[in-house]
Amino acid sequence: MSEPVRLSERLSRVKPSATVAVTAKLAELRREGRDIVDFSTGEPDFDTPEHIKAAAAEALRAGQTKYTPVGGTLALKDAIITKLARDNGLTYEPQEIIASCGGKHSLYNAFQAIFQEGDEVVVPAPFWVSYADMLKLAGASPVIVQTEEREGFRLSPAALEGAITQRTRGVILNSPSNPTGAAYEAADLRALGEVIARHNLITISDDVYERLVYDGFTQRHFLAECPELKSRTIVISSVSKTYAMTGWRLGYTAAPAHVVKAMTTIQGQSTTNPTSITQAGAIAALAGDQSCVGTMLTEFTRRRAYVLARLGAIDGVTCVAPRGAFYVFPTMSEFLGRSVGGMRLDAAGDLARYFLTECGVAVVGGEDFGAPANIRITYATSLEKLEEGMNRLERGLKTIAAAA
Ligand SMILES: Cc1ncc(COP(=O)(O)O)c(C=O)c1O
Repeated sequence: MSEPVRLSERLSRVKPSATVAVTAKLAELRREGRDIVDFSTGEPDFDTPEHIKAAAAEALRAGQTKYTPVGGTLALKDAIITKLARDNGLTYEPQEIIASCGGKHSLYNAFQAIFQEGDEVVVPAPFWVSYADMLKLAGASPVIVQTEEREGFRLSPAALEGAITQRTRGVILNSPSNPTGAAYEAADLRALGEVIARHNLITISDDVYERLVYDGFTQRHFLAECPELKSRTIVISSVSKTYAMTGWRLGYTAAPAHVVKAMTTIQGQSTTNPTSITQAGAIAALAGDQSCVGTMLTEFTRRRAYVLARLGAIDGVTCVAPRGAFYVFPTMSEFLGRSVGGMRLDAAGDLARYFLTECGVAVVGGEDFGAPANIRITYATSLEKLEEGMNRLERGLKTIAAAA
């Protein structure tokens, strides 16, 4: 009998994404005919706006179906430059821009280009699940720095300073954040920038949720507050969340030209260009009519208010009002360390399993976000589904409270 195929040593450093795992389990249960409300998927339920689809359809019709330059067409780079100037007050040249197959791909290529064995990178927790594993794939060590719910889940300059060693090369700032919705104010960014400058760190600014903000909060860009750090900052964003384009796969990076050149080499030896048709859609998204963003934001605002009100009415649940993104990240400590119907609920993942299998609602346990007492609820779904899902969650929590 022949030997099974050996997997590379590199793979032992990473695990599958927790969010992708919940999505797979949810699909399995639905195949069995179970009715599940999905609060787990990190994508808007809206369809991509019509003018974006029309631009892509026109590109397809016009035969834009060939390879493009590896880092995207000049027209796309110009649209990205337009966006960075309009929304963030930042100035970039085409050689400082690269488009990739989603923000995830942009981050992956950036980490491969700038980090190596022995490097430490500060990741404020709770954090988006993929940062740690992507850093490990690049050989670097994520240094997880806990933030506090009572401080709005924001990294403090002192906590950053305390995590820095001789080997620290970078820090990830994700504002607003997945999973907490935490967002930094201008003064926070300047104070962090001061520590970053003193230790000569690289900043990865993950801006994928920057336009999804609430309660009058305006997300200032890290580089608008700390322009002196431009030569050591990697700006990453994507059309996925802002324009309901998750399936199109288009992310982009603005960074010093030599970093972009290195990322282009990596991309040129792996995926080559992002899909040509997607690029045409992304131009319409980034440089075209922006009113669709306001329309989606109005709807997200209503949903966020609804979910916060429902959570606020459940005894034992605490939840900071997130400033941005489309998640809430309530703390569930009160419900942990208990048993219900023979199920031990020791950490948030157990709670998530209980909600999924016993209550018919999918959420993500906080362990892989670095927060074992929290669950992530995505409210990018209809008010009707939110109501049904929150009813199920509330009933489930009452059952746990009564069982103990
Ligand atoms: C914080 C954060 N950054 C980046 C991404 C990547 O998104 P995409 O690859 O769809 O552009 C995500 C997706 O969930 C995210 O939550």
